[in-house]
Amino acid sequence: MKKYAAIVLAAGKGTRMKSELPKVLHKVAGTPMLGHVLGALKALKMKRTVVVVGHGSESVRAEFAGSGVEFVEQKEQLGTGHAVLSAMGALKGFKGSVLVLSGDVPLITASTLKGLLRLHNRGQGQGKKGAALSFISAILYDSTGYGRVVRDEQNSVTGIVEQKDCTPMERLINEINTGFYIFDSDFLQKSIKKLKTENAQGEYYLPDLISMAVKEGRGIRALTHIDVLEVMGVNNRVELSRASAVMRLRILKDLMLSGVTVIDPGATYVDATVKVGRDSVIYPGVHLEGSTVIGKECRIEEGVKITDSRIGDSTTVKSSSIVESSSVGKGATLGPFARLRPGNALGAEVRIGNFVELKKVRMGRGSKAGHLSYLGDAVIGSGVNVGAGTITCNYDGKNKFITTIADDAFIGSDSQLVAPVKVGKNAYVGSGTTVTKDVPAGALVVARVEQKIKEGWVAKKGLIIDTFKEDKKDKKKKRGK
Ligand code: UD1
Ligand code: CA
Repeated sequence: MKKYAAIVLAAGKGTRMKSELPKVLHKVAGTPMLGHVLGALKALKMKRTVVVVGHGSESVRAEFAGSGVEFVEQKEQLGTGHAVLSAMGALKGFKGSVLVLSGDVPLITASTLKGLLRLHNRGQGQGKKGAALSFISAILYDSTGYGRVVRDEQNSVTGIVEQKDCTPMERLINEINTGFYIFDSDFLQKSIKKLKTENAQGEYYLPDLISMAVKEGRGIRALTHIDVLEVMGVNNRVELSRASAVMRLRILKDLMLSGVTVIDPGATYVDATVKVGRDSVIYPGVHLEGSTVIGKECRIEEGVKITDSRIGDSTTVKSSSIVESSSVGKGATLGPFARLRPGNALGAEVRIGNFVELKKVRMGRGSKAGHLSYLGDAVIGSGVNVGAGTITCNYDGKNKFITTIADDAFIGSDSQLVAPVKVGKNAYVGSGTTVTKDVPAGALVVARVEQKIKEGWVAKKGLIIDTFKEDKKDKKKKRGK
């Protein structure tokens, strides 16, 4: 079987991005561009994958540490040819085919790369040596910025000319080099050292190997790719947004074909890393991010943002809710306007209503906090009713404390639970109570000023206001004007 290694070029600064962040770390649908390229490569089962890093190499290495790739440093960015040269040391003694790809072409797919391998291997063994290299070209309506593919009268490729080196005639060529190549390792080892910098940018151009192979009479093959979006390089933020839009639609198409309803794919933002179960419905303006997993038959309404969370089957997340690093059981309802900060684990059938904020809350099956509450650092059992306006006072300015509410307790509206404090099973907290001491199971606690009635007090004070009369007076005044 043929052996393959890959070199991924990711050392460039990405000047045109105008950014502190290395270009290949800019995200497309939640994943850095380089991550998408490595993802496509993964399906090809490379023996080795060498990533050439340079600009911001520390952050690139950190991001992809443990992903099974090797890194080599290109200290000075002297061009794509020099970048490949930097990687050759790591591949010393490797015999087979070397795939070279750019880290800034995030839409590339495994199937296209497989096509390139197939093309390159076709007829291998017929000639003495087979093709020296194969590459992917594309026909673009606007080829500005790309290397142009130059062909002779027989339509055979003779070389690549970079934008800045093009004659006015060459500039009109709309077949471009996509930056994906596969080389015979012997040819690459030998030829990469021969590159020169006699060009407009004074750089070592990797594509010059194509004219070199042609001049040596070695075979080369070009795969002309028709999905021009797939091979689009990202060099600035306009292209970044374009690539993101294509990636988003690709992700949503897969979701829709797997049985998820997406009401408006143009206005729905789902990361490549997210999973959504069948018969779930996603409304416009929804953002699903990171490691989020949404179950089956869920309903995720307008303007909801869910990050790194698990949502159980048949759960509804109503409009404008935010969920971060939390898990929610089956058949629950959140929102509208619920805010789950990180660290919540909510059971099945819980109800979290409008303007309820949760942080590090464990809540058992069927418990409810319907309106206007802050619950933080709380352990809440099942069947608990947390009344409107309840607040856990979890912070004394220095430390955080736990509030524990046992099963089936009832917390009356507008109560404060001053942690650390426990409310026992089936206990009942009267409305407006400030709970400062533990409440035993089954007890009632009320802590508020007793109600006093003074009959006729308002009249005695001369404070009676007849709103209706006042209104009429006002209107008369206005009309009189
Ligand atoms: C390159 C090709 C061009 C092709 C285009 C396709 C060259 C000279 N030109 O141009 O023919 O049409 O890609 O997208 O190769 N890099 C390094 N070290 C360096 C220089 C670049 O690692 O010294 C990396 C970059 O990080 C990037 C990739 O190589 O991931 C391509 O470099 P870039 O500067 O974007 O090349 P283009 O001008 O797009
Ligand atoms: Ca590029």
